[in-house]
Amino acid sequence: MKPNGLHERIIVALDYDDRGKALHLLDKIEMVRFVKIGPRLLAATDWSILREAADRGKEIFLDLKLHDIPSTVAGTIANLSRFPIFSLSVHAASGSATLKAAVQKSRSLSRPIHIWAVTLLTSFRDETAADELMLAGSPSEYVQHLALLARYCGADGVISPADQVARIKETCGQDFIVVVPGVRPAGWEPHDQQRSSTPARAIEAGADFLVIGRAITASSDPAASFFQIVEEINDALGKTG
Ligand code: C5P
Repeated sequence: MKPNGLHERIIVALDYDDRGKALHLLDKIEMVRFVKIGPRLLAATDWSILREAADRGKEIFLDLKLHDIPSTVAGTIANLSRFPIFSLSVHAASGSATLKAAVQKSRSLSRPIHIWAVTLLTSFRDETAADELMLAGSPSEYVQHLALLARYCGADGVISPADQVARIKETCGQDFIVVVPGVRPAGWEPHDQQRSSTPARAIEAGADFLVIGRAITASSDPAASFFQIVEEINDALGKTG
């Protein structure tokens, strides 16, 4: 399933430490269709937050970033089938056996969960990624390699820094979903993101979805920030035709 309309290309990251705040945001911005829920909010609340978001008509990207052996990942996905989840993140660096097990388990469910593979965290800068992960090639080559691996294993898409989107689409195909986190409107604080992009640039590069947290959730007016980002994307696409 692909997003309908620009506002559906924004996945709002509900990185809150409080259930009330997360639900308040959903009630405040009805146009939000996709939300990211990860360990931070789950640990602050409980798994019923997934049903509460779904009851409000939201599609859930469960960003657990699983990085484990095939049987553990497949078993986790089987247990997650109790919840209304649209997509789930699994580290591509878990390897092909885990990725294939994840895809196979997900496809066996009555309501399959999309598997999105994590390539390189956007909090890495080039030098630290090369040193700390002991990469044989450049960080860009690493992202491209993992994207191809994920594609080969049947994943529905990848999570990637914005600067790699165009090449992933070229090598993996236009139908391969690319999700970009670390997105900041021009002039915003980068926080801990080292590979950030503006929403417009990420969409122009071909991103299907943008995961945006603090630029919306930490804003004094989250609804205004959400609509401003939609406008910014709209203007950029209008300019490029
Ligand atoms: O607040 P900010 O917009 O930086 O949040 C980015 C969101 O995207 C966070 O929820 C983070 O966990 C998620 N993410 C990321 N890098 C990835 C995958 C997910 O920043 N590679």
